[in-house]
Amino acid sequence: MENLHKFEHQAAGHEGTLTDEDEYLFFKPVLKQEIDFYSNLNNQLAGSVDDNELSLKDWIPKYIGLLTENDTTGLKKENINYVVLENLLRGFRKPNIMDIKLGKILYDEQTVTLGKKERLIKVSNDTTSGSLGFRICGMRVYNYSTELDHSYMELDEDTNYITINKFYGRSRTIDNIDEAIDLFFSMSNLDEKIKHKLAANFLSRLQLLYNTLLDSEVRMYSSSLLFIYETDQSRWEFLDYQDDIIPDDIEDEILDEDETTYCKTLSRLNLIDFAHSRFTPGEGPDENVLVGIENLIRIFEKEKNCNK
Ligand SMILES: Nc1ncnc2c1ncn2[C@@H]1O[C@H](COP(=O)(O)OP(=O)(O)OP(=O)(O)O)[C@@H](O)[C@H]1O
Ligand SMILES: [Mg+2]
Repeated sequence: MENLHKFEHQAAGHEGTLTDEDEYLFFKPVLKQEIDFYSNLNNQLAGSVDDNELSLKDWIPKYIGLLTENDTTGLKKENINYVVLENLLRGFRKPNIMDIKLGKILYDEQTVTLGKKERLIKVSNDTTSGSLGFRICGMRVYNYSTELDHSYMELDEDTNYITINKFYGRSRTIDNIDEAIDLFFSMSNLDEKIKHKLAANFLSRLQLLYNTLLDSEVRMYSSSLLFIYETDQSRWEFLDYQDDIIPDDIEDEILDEDETTYCKTLSRLNLIDFAHSRFTPGEGPDENVLVGIENLIRIFEKEKNCNK
């Protein structure tokens, strides 16, 4: 534990996450449901029946294992469990990051407490979670001045990163959500050509993810899509603008010295946050999450048509 430090690059969510010295890994404090989700995912057969299709696992950060911090002080009276995951930002130099929470229904009927259920119903009704099945939870963008209201953002002067907080996403509506998504892609000094390519690549990924989720029997309440792209133009030039839609399988390389795969990544899309997720064999796909992805696909398609 003493070799770990605070993870600085969260787009949203709670504190308490950690990373190692090389920042290869991401440690998240979790409760039992999230541990169960990751271990069940690991126990599933690798890949789907059809090898050409992506499986759910391909969209989720690699799960390395579980780390338990013993409470040696006796003060907290309990141990903290961390899932140890691949750090999705590995290989990026100056990533821009956006967290979008999926679903109209933000709670799991089987586990939610009454007070929490009421609160989450209200959050959904008052935001694009309810109208579109997704909501921007936060963004973290590198060194870019925007006209946004100051109550929505905070500048970290040490790193020059701006964090756009949850109140920005909560105040978006069906009429201005497209601009909010555009904003995320516009907040860099990358060439226009790259910006359009990025939006097109994320559209392809969303379509592929939609197909994966149609074949997956899970319920993922309050999980998120994490969008990441490189804003350092020199990395795009170095890699000849070759932004892979899906990174190669990096399972065996994750702890290797071989950095090739990570060095090749210029943008990526992943599912994260399984605190309220579970496998539901025989119950069909997660309609609640699919609606949000459908609406995102529509917005990215519109964007693409505007750029033609
Ligand atoms: N594997 C990962 N690699 C890099 N960054 C990550 C990874 N997983 C999550 N993050 C970052 O951390 C943030 C918070 O993660 P997550 O959503 O899992 O936690 P949370 O919302 O605090 O969780 P919970 O709902 O369990 O309280 C995300 O918005 C994202 O920016
Ligand atoms: Mg989250």
